[in-house]
Amino acid sequence: MSSALPIVNRYTRLVGIEHPIVQEGLGPFRTPKLAAAVSNAGGLGTVSMPGMPEDISEGARTFRAHIEECASLTDRPFAVNIPVGVDSKGEVLPFTDVYIRTALEAREADPVIARRLRVLTTSAGFPGGYVAAIKDAGMVHQHKVGSTRQAVKAEAAGVDVVIAAGFEMGGHAPSKAVHTFVLIPNVTEAVGVPVLLTGGARDARGLAAALALGAEGVAMGTRFITSTANSDWHPAYVQALLNADEGDDVAFDGVYGPCRGLRNAASRQLTEAAGHRDGEVDQVELTRWKIESMQRAQTEGDVTNSLVMTGQVAAAIRDLVDVAEFVPRMATEAAEILRSLANRLGGSVGEPVPASADR
Ligand SMILES: Cc1cc2nc3c(=O)[nH]c(=O)nc-3n(C[C@H](O)[C@H](O)[C@H](O)COP(=O)(O)O)c2cc1C
Repeated sequence: MSSALPIVNRYTRLVGIEHPIVQEGLGPFRTPKLAAAVSNAGGLGTVSMPGMPEDISEGARTFRAHIEECASLTDRPFAVNIPVGVDSKGEVLPFTDVYIRTALEAREADPVIARRLRVLTTSAGFPGGYVAAIKDAGMVHQHKVGSTRQAVKAEAAGVDVVIAAGFEMGGHAPSKAVHTFVLIPNVTEAVGVPVLLTGGARDARGLAAALALGAEGVAMGTRFITSTANSDWHPAYVQALLNADEGDDVAFDGVYGPCRGLRNAASRQLTEAAGHRDGEVDQVELTRWKIESMQRAQTEGDVTNSLVMTGQVAAAIRDLVDVAEFVPRMATEAAEILRSLANRLGGSVGEPVPASADR
């Protein structure tokens, strides 16, 4: 029946999932339960990077535990997200190396984890030095980019999937403020590998639009933060996103460039710090403060004096969704929207659609 597999394409086949709907990385605290819930619903869940503690081997142990927890909660494919951090000289920071090694070792140590942890997503800096290791491990390598130039470079380096990130996205955003509606068609015209849209999607209409723009799926953040499966995060964080209106977000100076979050005392403090001359602020200390602040918002629910990352799309989200119900419904409705639009061209294309999908 068509509603059981409404959208099958290169991406769903490559990763081995039912619906081209991804819960992308949501650091720096924990997402193993959320990731498993999205994978169990037929999408692709992602275990996020658990911060960058001073003792990075402690971070690696936490990350490994999160991977194991997710693998114990789903028998479907899931992903890990690891940003590529670079220092002022362009050198890759140690945490990236350690976390990529941790993910590969978790798979080597346990064939069950190897079957389930199918995808490694990198973001932020260029991942060229890791492509071979990820491929040799038999994983699908996705890389998140903020420009067409970066997408072409990632494809040339051998990345399997490009995630094109528009500036309205939550968390670390592209350094050049190109928004989803412009970036995604540019990227899909420029590369041959499957492309996912990230930034601004929240429902079936976003998925249908992504497919119309040439992408093969969507990778969402904010929509999944506001779900009942995200029960590890402090409820005040989730409520702050539900309460957000248009214009309540701001792009502040994050860890890897601009970062979108709620406009509050913490984001104002950062903007003021960015106004100081270099040298007045210890950059290493400032980076540590930012990451701790982002984590504190998620763990303690301090949404006033800590950094609350969110996408602009929070302004349109008022309810918590049940992931098990939401993911398949989103895919089915997206397929219905596309069929319905095709029918409206004169009824010569596509199949008849149920009246309920005729919006
Ligand atoms: C709280 C939060 C944390 C995030 N953490 C990460 C991360 O660790 N790595 C990453 O690549 N992207 C991260 N992102 C970006 C998301 O993976 C995703 O691309 C983004 O949320 C998409 O925009 P949307 O919120 O409009 O759906 C984060 C976003 C948010 C809101």
